[in-house]
Amino acid sequence: KKTYRIASIPGDGIGKEVMPEGLRVLKAATKAFEFEIEFVQFDWASCDYYVSSGSMMPSDWKQILSGFDAIYFGAVGWPALVPDHVSLWGSLLKFRREFDQYINYRPVRLFEGVPSPLAGRKVGDIDYVVIRENTEGEYTSLGGIMFEGTDREVVVQESVFSRHGADRLLRYAFDLASKRARKHVTVATKSNGIAVSMPWWDKRADAIAGEFPDVVLDKQHIDILTARFVLQPGRFDVVAATNLFGDILSDLGPATTGTIGLAPSANLNPERLFPSLFEPVHGSAPDIYGKNIANPIAMIWSGALMLDFLGEKAAHDQIVGAIEEALRTGPRTPDMGGNASTQDVGAAITQLLQIRTPQPD
Ligand code: NAD
Ligand code: IPM
Ligand code: MN
Repeated sequence: KKTYRIASIPGDGIGKEVMPEGLRVLKAATKAFEFEIEFVQFDWASCDYYVSSGSMMPSDWKQILSGFDAIYFGAVGWPALVPDHVSLWGSLLKFRREFDQYINYRPVRLFEGVPSPLAGRKVGDIDYVVIRENTEGEYTSLGGIMFEGTDREVVVQESVFSRHGADRLLRYAFDLASKRARKHVTVATKSNGIAVSMPWWDKRADAIAGEFPDVVLDKQHIDILTARFVLQPGRFDVVAATNLFGDILSDLGPATTGTIGLAPSANLNPERLFPSLFEPVHGSAPDIYGKNIANPIAMIWSGALMLDFLGEKAAHDQIVGAIEEALRTGPRTPDMGGNASTQDVGAAITQLLQIRTPQPD
């Protein structure tokens, strides 16, 4: 039997509540399919670890994690203990950069049974994927503050784009679109206002589009693009965006499908030189932590994406099928209009998976 080695890192807040549900579903999947998973859990990459050790991770974290086939990650951030830029640059953003996970794959889908805040939208009306650049762009720690503490304070924060980085992101998006029915890529831009990087980004989009004559390129400024996510979600198939624009779009999209509590993400190094990382789009949600009402579906769906990337497509499809069925019939957490607990939803999906994929005992 094939055995995958997975590092599981719950992190902070509801990361610690949704991780057990994700593990429960993945373990049920291994029973029905021809593979095993060996999980090793780490309590670092968390603010608790920072408080006790003075850093977010042990110094040999990269060596430790390099030995795994993938990283299954909850959420990081507990601003009451550690400033967010310290905890995130000390963990998640380090993973994305040092493991060159340059694709952040974030699907957005409206499910039957989950009320959309957009009037009249039904299943099939919202179904696209945000391909977010994940290693460069607006996310940098380059810059500085001059005359700090005086009323002459001046702040400079640099953005960094490379042809290598833009081209590989755009090529991934076009290649993905060429394999989908609609063959359509929306590229988020802001070349009217951001006068150096964004006109350049548009040119890279045109150049890469030229390699994919069967795929339609639709460049849209980010402002109207956000409006169309709300007003005309049916326009979108694959949406390619820089790091910051992609971050914003990948909360907005799931909000239009009812909740960010079910949005998954895959932080991919497509060349498999380093482990890829699978995590919910959402964060540690301090406002609901401890109440046992966090929606575990983002975590569970992220686990399915992990299996797909590892080559277990059938297991992915069965988990997504169980999620669809649970949303149609089963318990719902409060963010989806119900009053179920985190475990109720995890248990319902596990049970449906077991029915769909009979478990040998
Ligand atoms: P958040 O995603 O944690 O929460 C935003 C809102 O959505 C909250 O009202 C929360 O209760 C709700 N929510 C989020 N996930 C939910 C779920 N699974 N079920 C039900 N409701 C859910 O965003 P935030 O409040 O901006 O950030 C909180 C902390 O998390 C910060 O430290 C932030 O930096 C961090 N963060 C981490 C990640 C990550 O690890 N990938 C992502 C986003 C934010
Ligand atoms: C996400 C998060 C992170 C990001 C934060 C926590 C740094 O919002 O994964 O979407 O901006 O990438
Ligand atoms: Mn985000």
